Amino acid sequence: MKKVVVVGLGYVGTPVACCFANAGFKVVGIDIVQSKIDMINRGESPIKGKEPGLDELLKKVHKAGKLKATDDYSECKRAYAILIMVETPVDDKNIPRYKALRSALTSVGKNLSKDTLVSIESTIAPRTTTDLVKPILEKESGLKAGEDFYLAHCPERLRAGVLLEAITNYNKIIGGINEASSKKAKELYKKIIKAKMYVTDSLTAEVTKTTENAYRDTQIAFANELAYLSEELGIDVFELRKLVNTSPSRAMHFPGSGVGGHCLPKDPWLLLHGSGKTFKPKLIPAAREINDSMPFHMIELAEEAMKESKVNPKKAKIAVMGYAFIEDSDDTRDTPAAPVIKHFMDIGSEVIVHDPYVKAVDGLEMTGDLNEALVGADCAIFVTAHSRYKSLKLKNLVQKMRNSIIIDGRDLFERKKCIKEGFVYKGIGKKH
Ligand SMILES: NC(=O)c1ccc[n+]([C@@H]2O[C@H](COP(=O)([O-])OP(=O)(O)OC[C@H]3O[C@@H](n4cnc5c(N)ncnc54)[C@H](O)[C@@H]3O)[C@@H](O)[C@H]2O)c1
Repeated sequence: MKKVVVVGLGYVGTPVACCFANAGFKVVGIDIVQSKIDMINRGESPIKGKEPGLDELLKKVHKAGKLKATDDYSECKRAYAILIMVETPVDDKNIPRYKALRSALTSVGKNLSKDTLVSIESTIAPRTTTDLVKPILEKESGLKAGEDFYLAHCPERLRAGVLLEAITNYNKIIGGINEASSKKAKELYKKIIKAKMYVTDSLTAEVTKTTENAYRDTQIAFANELAYLSEELGIDVFELRKLVNTSPSRAMHFPGSGVGGHCLPKDPWLLLHGSGKTFKPKLIPAAREINDSMPFHMIELAEEAMKESKVNPKKAKIAVMGYAFIEDSDDTRDTPAAPVIKHFMDIGSEVIVHDPYVKAVDGLEMTGDLNEALVGADCAIFVTAHSRYKSLKLKNLVQKMRNSIIIDGRDLFERKKCIKEGFVYKGIGKKH
């Protein structure tokens, strides 16, 4: 049985490992976090939140003995393929921070055998495959990329909430450093991918993936800019969006309380890394700035509403509704809730954070109980569109709260209905 090693058992690595195990490979997942290794070796997914099919698939491949997890890189020896999907963040100056990637590559390189395919699935800046990945692997292994082993960048296109669906049904970009590497990668991925595969070079693959996310981030920034304008004009940006999208070839995105996760806030910076020698990028950095401003706008709306209601924010109980960056997920990376929470904690408010999926965060008072969050609250700030919030009954809510203030970052409630029930309501992109 051919062995596939998956390095990095996170939101990408865990489902990818399960898919290859289910396709008949012997899969070994490598991670440095012991608790994740232990969970997977018990047949338990480290990813919580709504991920259709993932728990069941992991249990199945674990029971069949097709998937195991370890921290032992010697498992890379004589592997058919090694897929690397460790995190690739940027630092506070928006420069790629490849600590995890370098470390993983060094360990893989030391244990790399001839004829193995190494595929980088992590999102990386232009030229990283040839200028960083290749030299580390060659130095550590003493082998030549493209001749002794195959090397490709095959970026992952996952989305929280549909991880398995995305792996198998989304088109795949294959970016080999040479024809032989692309051919080898295509052969491997066709075992799990039902959609189309497009072969290109590694640089174009790097730029494609980061462009996809910069594109989405820019589209969201456009919607957020229109949200600010709609508030000024006293119209509803969500109605505006609906009407705009009745025009052919228009697909305005949703505005909201902020853009989070391990992709959109940093991938535009990965795309631009090393650029600007012959031009100055303007649009993409401006989009980042707009999107980063949204949690601070949520704070402004909350403070205005409290002022109108004669509530002193320093003495208020603030319920922050949602800590995951996206609905029905437990992923909290770069969550827009964080700046909101920090602000109100800094000024001395009593802050309680509700999330159905995120159980505990250091330094925060967290609960999964709606009553605990909302009873006696002065201001409920809805940051995340968890499905649970959509079915909240305004009549019940108004009775639970001490002061009835709703700040809606995700178009969860109808403004008119909220006002009718006696709420002071402010929302992103809504008339105030
Ligand atoms: N999350 C997504 O939806 C998504 C979608 C597409 C692409 N990506 C990209 O995929 C990559 C991984 O993202 P993720 O969300 O899975 O990240 P993650 O943080 O959930 O997972 C990364 C895993 O790598 C492990 N790791 C770190 N250093 C290691 C090392 N030296 N050896 C072994 N394991 C190590 C970490 O412990 C962690 O479990 C990133 O480049 C990201 O941009 C993510």
